[in-house]
Amino acid sequence: MTHSDLMHILVVDDEKSIRRLIEKEMASPRRVIKTAGSGDEAFAAIRRWAFDVILLDIRLPDANGLELMAQFQEDLPGVQVILITGYGEVHDAVEAMKNGACDYITKPFDLDALEQVVEKAFQHVRARREAMARQSGGQAKRTAYPQEIIGHSGSMDRVRFLIDKVSPVQVPVLITGESGTGKNVVARVIHRQSARAEKPLITKNCATLQAELVRSELFGHCKGAFTGATESRDGLLSMAHEGTLFLDEIGELPVGVQATLLRVMETQTFRRVGEKEERKVDVRFLFATNRNLRKEVDAGRFREDLYHRLNVFNIELLPLRERREEIPVLLEYFLEQLRVGKQPACRVSKKVMQCLMNHDWPGNVRELHNVIERGVILAEDSLITEQALPAELLASGGGDGGDDPFLPLKEIERKHMLKVLEHVNGNRSKASELLGVSRKTLYRKLLEP
Ligand SMILES: Nc1ncnc2c1ncn2[C@@H]1O[C@H](COP(=O)(O)OP(=O)(O)OP(=O)(O)O)[C@@H](O)[C@H]1O
Ligand SMILES: [Mg+2]
Repeated sequence: MTHSDLMHILVVDDEKSIRRLIEKEMASPRRVIKTAGSGDEAFAAIRRWAFDVILLDIRLPDANGLELMAQFQEDLPGVQVILITGYGEVHDAVEAMKNGACDYITKPFDLDALEQVVEKAFQHVRARREAMARQSGGQAKRTAYPQEIIGHSGSMDRVRFLIDKVSPVQVPVLITGESGTGKNVVARVIHRQSARAEKPLITKNCATLQAELVRSELFGHCKGAFTGATESRDGLLSMAHEGTLFLDEIGELPVGVQATLLRVMETQTFRRVGEKEERKVDVRFLFATNRNLRKEVDAGRFREDLYHRLNVFNIELLPLRERREEIPVLLEYFLEQLRVGKQPACRVSKKVMQCLMNHDWPGNVRELHNVIERGVILAEDSLITEQALPAELLASGGGDGGDDPFLPLKEIERKHMLKVLEHVNGNRSKASELLGVSRKTLYRKLLEP
């Protein structure tokens, strides 16, 4: 499987059962499927991932699907939007197709039809990718995650050294660090530098495993294993065969399955739910957590034996505030990445640089990325000035000292919203777009006492 065969899909539907169904039915090693239950969640997701195909319910509680579609298409050029409609909304769907939706399916839908529609959409995506690759001399453009780790500091050079050492060998790796420090980036780099690079990297966030179905999700099940198991099904472990299984937020793995996972790691064999037969599997394991697993062990929430098995090789990512010297290089990288077409990359003013260097970055590199992205949108003549910074950065940064350093979060949020509104001359749809929330949410938050 090459990179160009990978498809990122977002399912936006307020009905959990539909999200689950689509996620399950379409699961395949070459598909990365994310779900969102509302417009807000969808925006949060598209800020993190470059989706190729979005399955979008026309009717959402907090947003109008057709309006959302327009915004998605703006944020993700080339994205294929497939609308999910109820009977009676077909008319709207047809309208939407005129406005650039690629297809629609009606609820309740049959899964073969779904499969066909998605594959067709993906053919468009692939054609577009190939055209772009030809244009840029073989270089694929802007992926959600960088192919390498950016930034140099004592700690990051150490991380790179560890990655180079551990990638080619089979041992499991435990990647630790606060949220947004780059754990997913590291996992991808390890996989890419290993002999398994051409095989699938299957990522699963353990916090999203469904309690009753954990075993079936991980190990698969046979037909009739439980009510609802009408077909036998592969689990994530089988999907990762010969490749890598990255279990994110491993601290969330239910205690009940921890012993089983340990056994699988030790024997490289497993059983599907409802089956006696042992199956062999060849998988390399990566784990990540932003919790202190040692503490989880002490608190009795995590098995000590599994902890030791995971912790053979630990790569720790320091919070960004403890490696501030990387900020300028990350800044330059993000500015280059966010450059539009042939325009020059944006620059930042001295004051902005000061704020960036002084801020505490609770959201780490992800926060830095988001701040810069917003800055680029608000830049004037390719210069990002402090006007384009969120209030909390100004507060921590340039030393104008006038602001209360202990403002409640809500207040900071409100200030920031007002500031953005001011910037777009009160245009609320523009502001909500910049802020990544629906207009309704924006009103609600501004009106909150
Ligand atoms: N060293 C780095 N070089 C380039 N980009 C980075 C680096 N570290 C993080 N990023 C970017 O920052 C964002 C967050 O990184 P990532 O998702 O890997 O963090 P995480 O530690 O897995 O966070 P979480 O605990 O929330 O899952 C991503 O957009 C990623 O591309
Ligand atoms: Mg992560």
